[in-house]
Amino acid sequence: MKILGIETSCDETGVAIFDTDTNSIISEQLYSQASKHAEYGGVVPELASRDHLKKLVPLIDLTINKSGYDLQSIDAIAYTAGPGLRGPLLIGASMAKAISMTINKPSIGIHHMEAHLLINLLENPAPSFPFLTLLISGGHCLLINAKALGDYEILGQTLDDAVGEAFDKVAKILDLGYPGGPKIESLAKEGNPKSFNFPRPMTNKKNFDFSFSGLKTAVYYEFKKIHEIDDYKKADLAASFQAAVADTLLIKTKEAMDSTGLEELVIGGGVASNKYIRSKLVEGLKDKKIYFPPIRRCTDNGAMIAYAGSFYMQDIQESLDLNIRPRWPLSELVNG
Ligand code: KG4
Ligand code: ZN
Repeated sequence: MKILGIETSCDETGVAIFDTDTNSIISEQLYSQASKHAEYGGVVPELASRDHLKKLVPLIDLTINKSGYDLQSIDAIAYTAGPGLRGPLLIGASMAKAISMTINKPSIGIHHMEAHLLINLLENPAPSFPFLTLLISGGHCLLINAKALGDYEILGQTLDDAVGEAFDKVAKILDLGYPGGPKIESLAKEGNPKSFNFPRPMTNKKNFDFSFSGLKTAVYYEFKKIHEIDDYKKADLAASFQAAVADTLLIKTKEAMDSTGLEELVIGGGVASNKYIRSKLVEGLKDKKIYFPPIRRCTDNGAMIAYAGSFYMQDIQESLDLNIRPRWPLSELVNG
């Protein structure tokens, strides 16, 4: 069975084909709009919608052509139904429905965060349920007890900014450009992570929630205190901020593993591509099994949507209604 996956929830247009016979992604294309949004310092929803509209059809064509198959060979279409930006989601969903009608094959709406989680199962070795999941992206910071497919207990989440969002905002303060995560990671390599003692928010609380907005503000106040800002000081701020994020994620994740007794940890989302954070988690959780997706599959991509679709093919009962959910808690998945 070949599943065409379409991701358009934010500023990446991702398309891929997952083949259940070979259990692999046989073709994939990814286009990032990041440079288009850079001058505004963040994603502009209207611009994002227009760009998805322009790029989606050529990317679908290219993905299918490069797979060596044709449109008729596709057995189902999976698309991101939420959470995400309304306009961009509608574009992916309507395209999926249009293809579905044209080739008379079913389509299915996928939960974006579940796709970030499930993509880990495509790796070898793969985790097996139940496992703890840390999802760290531009819109979410979640600690989840993943009990079984579709059965996700949210143990904790951010009360304000998501981790990726904090990276993006701190990058804005330091005038590094958008998206902030990769810029901070690369600048931080030149800096000393101990030069500023930023807070490790909520780590003294006996729960698994996060809060990154105060940390971002702490960076802002330190930045304002510096009279002559230069690249060295910016690098120190970036490194110290990144270290505070890594420590916070580690402390909370470790506590959640201890409290649930879960031995395996699955990590996903754009921030999981950060090599410093990856190494801190591996170092701090030496006795646990940790799974990360390959770097290119941490940030948004079509492969994770096509692959997630393969888990839900048997229960497709979709109509042609455009049932997107811009706000869709993972705990409200139908199977949950
Ligand atoms: O998963 P993702 O592509 O989109 C959402 O679902 O939100 O995550 C995007 C977020 C952005 O905030 C971006 O700055 C952050 O992931 N990010 C990173 C890195 N690469 C992307 N954050 C820290 N370090 C990175 N290397
Ligand atoms: Zn994402």
